[in-house]
Amino acid sequence: MWNGTLVRSRFFDAISLLLPAAERFLIETLEEWLSRAGDSVDSRLGAEVERFLREERAHQSVHLRYNDSLIAADPAAQEPALRASRATDDIRRLDLATRMALAAAFEILTSLLSRELLERPYLLGSGESVEARIWRWHAREELAHCHVVVQAVRALGVSRGQRLMAYALATGFLIFDVLRLWRALCRCDIRAGARRARMWADGLTFVLRGVPSLLRMSAGWTRQLVR
Ligand SMILES: [Fe+2]
Ligand SMILES: [Fe+2]
Repeated sequence: MWNGTLVRSRFFDAISLLLPAAERFLIETLEEWLSRAGDSVDSRLGAEVERFLREERAHQSVHLRYNDSLIAADPAAQEPALRASRATDDIRRLDLATRMALAAAFEILTSLLSRELLERPYLLGSGESVEARIWRWHAREELAHCHVVVQAVRALGVSRGQRLMAYALATGFLIFDVLRLWRALCRCDIRAGARRARMWADGLTFVLRGVPSLLRMSAGWTRQLVR
């Protein structure tokens, strides 16, 4: 356990399992937009999208290695990891405008979590484990590049209704997937010998301490709706 308690570590591990598929979705969508838009893209935005793509590719490869070590340490995590790798299969078939709106929504949600992760020590502690350092690095880059996809979506002319729909869909998608993977990883730990009562107690403490973060993230989420 790298983050104080198993439950707290597994919360971030669950997100990590989802990230390579989510980042593949972002990369493919933005690459397609960039190649279709061609010369009509403002050169400054084009350069920012290129930087965004480089950073997401780096995140993806680091999280693939993170997930490999997770599975090497606990082979039972292979099954949830496989499910996570298919998480974006359905939405990859949607039209480009919808995918771009979803990509912007994922980036906004990621930035809300990244801010909490960097500013609230009870989420990630002050540990210097490899995983904690990966999360801080990733969160800093997410905060710095979140605006890029939002600007690209504006340049594409996606309607406000479509953006709001994507925002609601992305939120539901993320909450559902993180919770089911978190639960699956915790169940693997219980099968491997972790005490169920201890896991529940730690989980409850983590959730209760996370309430202020949830409220702040909900407020940030709502602000996006009225923009
Ligand atoms: Fe990322
Ligand atoms: Fe990102």
